[in-house]
Amino acid sequence: MTHTAVDVIRAKRDGDRLTDAQIDWVVDAYTRGDVADEQMSALAMAIYLNGMDASETARWTRAMVDSGERLTLDVGRPTVDKHSTGGVGDKITLPLAPLVAACGAAVPQLSGRGLGHTGGTLDKLESIPGWRAQLSVDEVVSQLRSVGAVVCAATSGLAPADKKLYALRDVTGTVESIPLIASSIMSKKIAEGAEALVLDVKVGSGAFMKSPERARALAQALVAIGVDHGLRVSALLTDMSVPLGRAVGNAVEVAESVEVLRGGGPADVVELTVALAEEMLSRAGVTASPREVLASGAAYETWARMIRAQGGDPDAPLPEAAHKHVVTAEEDGYLTELDAYAVGVAAWRLGAGRARKEDPVQAAAGVLCLAKPGDEVTRGQPLLELRTDTPAAIPAALASLAGGYGIGDTPPPPRPLLLDTLRG
Ligand code: URA
Repeated sequence: MTHTAVDVIRAKRDGDRLTDAQIDWVVDAYTRGDVADEQMSALAMAIYLNGMDASETARWTRAMVDSGERLTLDVGRPTVDKHSTGGVGDKITLPLAPLVAACGAAVPQLSGRGLGHTGGTLDKLESIPGWRAQLSVDEVVSQLRSVGAVVCAATSGLAPADKKLYALRDVTGTVESIPLIASSIMSKKIAEGAEALVLDVKVGSGAFMKSPERARALAQALVAIGVDHGLRVSALLTDMSVPLGRAVGNAVEVAESVEVLRGGGPADVVELTVALAEEMLSRAGVTASPREVLASGAAYETWARMIRAQGGDPDAPLPEAAHKHVVTAEEDGYLTELDAYAVGVAAWRLGAGRARKEDPVQAAAGVLCLAKPGDEVTRGQPLLELRTDTPAAIPAALASLAGGYGIGDTPPPPRPLLLDTLRG
């Protein structure tokens, strides 16, 4: 049967299910340029408004995977990856990948750059002198064999349909559709070739999904797609209403990750790193204790080898910002709130993030959260340190922090970081 873009658009506009053949055709024809951007925009909006059920979403994902190459990672150990839906201060990949590798699994982390208020893993690692993000597939495989972990840019051959469609969704108000988000994330992860995958689905002001209901629905959709593709897959729902750790930015997050790899670091970063490592190892079928491996120094050794393998110098000093501005407590009490979104926007405005994907980022820009909710503070005590090479950005960053933190007479109730786990 021959298809036309208009028939597929009309079917979804009128609330029908798309058939497997319609999905395969439209994704393939769009990738090849036979379906125009304006037609795919209309279809994306129809999907946004009328949704896709689980089997349509699984088929859509399969068609996006089939639009490019699917890597085969024959590296001599079980392969397992992690994907986070993105948050403020979310540097977890940095300690996690070498930790899981030091425990015996192989971690292929093909990552992206940051856009908006959430940071990108590659931007963080690029603050390490000499480190390079672009690797060939052969280099990825060889590093997985020799080191066990690689964090690098996704090659353009993986899920090219998603690359095209994501750029279109970004400018047509169709990003926030659960079937489109889930298929976009999973198509890249499935194409990457890992046998198991753990998803960190963030919930709260600093996350893509602000409500627990939407985050859970996304987690369920992601897990269902993974199962459909034969992956061992889990999703952890984790809090993102407060920044993770104390550092938000690029070089500052690398420095904090190194503290964790050396056995220190903030308790929440350690807790989430260990929880994700335990889940990844269990899904990969590897028995090890990540907490003990972290304490032994073996994860730090793997980190140093991973950075060197990509041209970086793990011992080189990290870039320092030219300007620092400290925000102090106006009264005595307890820090009751520190809003992740406000801090993320402040770091972004200071130069740590980008507004358009071609913008550069400042390696040294960011925010240090010197107090976290629950900490007792006294008047005049430093709460936040803003860092930037462009001091003109400081007033805008301060404006985004206004109302983003609070001091009260009593400490806030403790907020759990790990909210739930879903397993496929
Ligand atoms: N991240 C992705 O990779 N795709 C989306 O659609 C949203 C977030």
